[in-house]
Amino acid sequence: MLRNFLIGLIIICVTQVQAQTQDTKSDSYRMKSYVDALMKKMTLDEKIGQLNLLTPGGAVATGEVVSSGVESKIKAGSVGGLFGVIGVDKIKKAQELAVNGSRLHIPLIFGSDVIHGYKTTFPIPLGLSCSWDTAMIERSARIAATEATADGLSWVFSPMVDIARDPRWGRIAEGAGEDPYLGSKVARAMVKGYQGNDLSANNTLMACVKHYALYGAAEAGRDYNTTDMSRIKMYEYYLPPYKAAVEAGVGSVMSSFNEVDAIPATANKFLMTDVLRKQWGFKGFVVTDYTAINEMIDHGMGDLQTVSALALKAGIDMDMVGEGFLTTLKKSLKEGKVTLQQIETACRRILEAKYKLGLFDDPYRYCNTARASKEVLSADKMQAAREFAEHSFILLKNNNQTLPLKKSATIALIGPLANNKNNMLGTWAVSGDPQFSVPVLDGIKNIVGSSVNVLYAKGANITDDTVLAKKINVFGERVDIDKRSPQELINEAVNTANNANVVVAVIGEASEMSGESASRSDIGLPENQKELLKALVKTGKPLVLVIMSGRPLTLSWESEIATSILQVWFPGHEAGNAIADVLFGNYNPSGKTTISFPRNVGQIPIYYNHKNTGRPLTGDAWQKFRSDYLDVSNTPLYPFGYGLSYTTFSYGDIILSTNNPKGNQSITATARVTNTGKYTGEEVVQLYISDPVASVTRSVKDLKGFKKIMLQPGESKEVSFTITTEDLKFYNTDLQHIWEPGEFIIQIGTNSQDVKSATINWRK
Ligand code: BGC
Repeated sequence: MLRNFLIGLIIICVTQVQAQTQDTKSDSYRMKSYVDALMKKMTLDEKIGQLNLLTPGGAVATGEVVSSGVESKIKAGSVGGLFGVIGVDKIKKAQELAVNGSRLHIPLIFGSDVIHGYKTTFPIPLGLSCSWDTAMIERSARIAATEATADGLSWVFSPMVDIARDPRWGRIAEGAGEDPYLGSKVARAMVKGYQGNDLSANNTLMACVKHYALYGAAEAGRDYNTTDMSRIKMYEYYLPPYKAAVEAGVGSVMSSFNEVDAIPATANKFLMTDVLRKQWGFKGFVVTDYTAINEMIDHGMGDLQTVSALALKAGIDMDMVGEGFLTTLKKSLKEGKVTLQQIETACRRILEAKYKLGLFDDPYRYCNTARASKEVLSADKMQAAREFAEHSFILLKNNNQTLPLKKSATIALIGPLANNKNNMLGTWAVSGDPQFSVPVLDGIKNIVGSSVNVLYAKGANITDDTVLAKKINVFGERVDIDKRSPQELINEAVNTANNANVVVAVIGEASEMSGESASRSDIGLPENQKELLKALVKTGKPLVLVIMSGRPLTLSWESEIATSILQVWFPGHEAGNAIADVLFGNYNPSGKTTISFPRNVGQIPIYYNHKNTGRPLTGDAWQKFRSDYLDVSNTPLYPFGYGLSYTTFSYGDIILSTNNPKGNQSITATARVTNTGKYTGEEVVQLYISDPVASVTRSVKDLKGFKKIMLQPGESKEVSFTITTEDLKFYNTDLQHIWEPGEFIIQIGTNSQDVKSATINWRK
């Protein structure tokens, strides 16, 4: 009886799987037939037109050049897509130009930089990554997609997954930090969040993983600068997040500005074809970054016609803004410098993307004004923004349990970012309106009402440097320089502090001090803010620092003088409410840094998964003829994975299912984690593995797993990780991804430095 039932069940499942496979087959067959038929009707000019992505201006410009003559180009069939057009009405009008005005009625694809939320702005991506909560990160992308599609968009230039080890680089704010394992998880989560399970649904859109590749390794942290690295380093540390996005089905990829192996990424066949398509099996389309084709002239690769041909031949499908394809490909074809097949392949990939998005069925499927007014900036999205922000904060220090603050104290709230709307959103919030931001002062009042006496003083400008302020204020006023002198501001702050029980100083960078083209050679707090802190320290009051920044700042001195430090990055619209929730203990901070905090700029690049060298330092003390510095220790101020809680956690020893695994057997490593403090709290339990002997040098350790758990005071949980030989693999000199038998050190702990260890011997 049971047997028959099971057989029946198997038959049903097999038939369903077969039906699904046929269905998928027929889906791609239908797409191919549709695109074939359309392309038969297209002229060469129209095919090249599809490869052209323009930005008509009007919104926030994200590059130097803005396209002209857009309307007539759309009608002529010379445009494949637009970006930087915001709002259903405008998008609908532009779509009408293409659908009604062009010969073949091919709809446009509409993109935008939806980087951390759309109009409802979430914490910057670096902040989101510090939650280590991939389900939450996926949800942030899902919500952004719901809001952006309701407002007309079908394509986002996100996720940005560039691994970065250099916080001088301003775009570190846009990624998930220094680690490829975590970076890959975040990449997958975001692609899933944006694209959902059905790209043709009207609330999902196409993601675009960027900036492929190695853009985060710019020399000296200067934006757009040269990158140069070994293939092993590339495969092991920098490529995995892009690959993860491809595996998650990302629909498009953006090429980066930098060169790789002395060829700009945008003309780099190794990257665009050999790795991306042949090794990873990517099927979508590749768009350049903003005028990246034209910029190859300055890279020294030739004139516009030459570089455009190089890009197409390397595997680029769409040209962002520069119109090199539009203006030169026909000539190159005539001269035999590109082939018709190369043009048609690129055109096909773009038409397929439009097909998958359902734009041929209904070009206006994302243009529903009723949906826009319901979804854009809705209350539930703001609520999510608050939750995401709380989870992105990192408690770096908390002496004498100064935090959470008592809801009865008198608080001096001080600092240029304490009552500020213009800087809460952070970089790359092109559609976010700063006016909807909640400043910290308002947030505290919202949370504690009249039970707390809040005294406010600005204390300092973000910077007193007017030249710097001008550079930062390109997208609107982020730095306002007070009419009062710096000393007057400090005096007022000190008086305010003297009347309070505790000082909360909200300090840091302006939002545009990080982001694109916002590299800094000194990543400390601006000097005038340090002067403010010096004066506040002298009051003898407990000093809580709330630090806003798009990068880890060098905080060596601040970490000595402050009682507590809460790193909040740029929290987004709900900044004030979220910060107040954490300051007063409504939410117990659980973030862990995904980027090492250097002690000073000279330590950069500093990252946890470094190599050992032949002369490693043993212990912390300086040693002659060892790899170290005369003037600073080797360790970061706060290591990767670090972050405190209002409660404390203890870790038991690691228990292994076996110390001697063999072959492809999997093992489990378990540690008992106990909440030894007074608050309910979440802990990110981290698994690292070291491979002390291998045929190539390995990093001292690599993250291989993490779990975020919630524990009540006194509660313990056993946290187990399954380890397989996949976790032991690395790239050897032939770029084979292999593991080698021998000893491995399994580590479980609260951050990359503070771990329990156990050794295993894994045999073939
Ligand atoms: C940036 C990209 C962005 C593009 C379009 C470029 O300058 O590097 O990240 O997607 O502009 O705005």
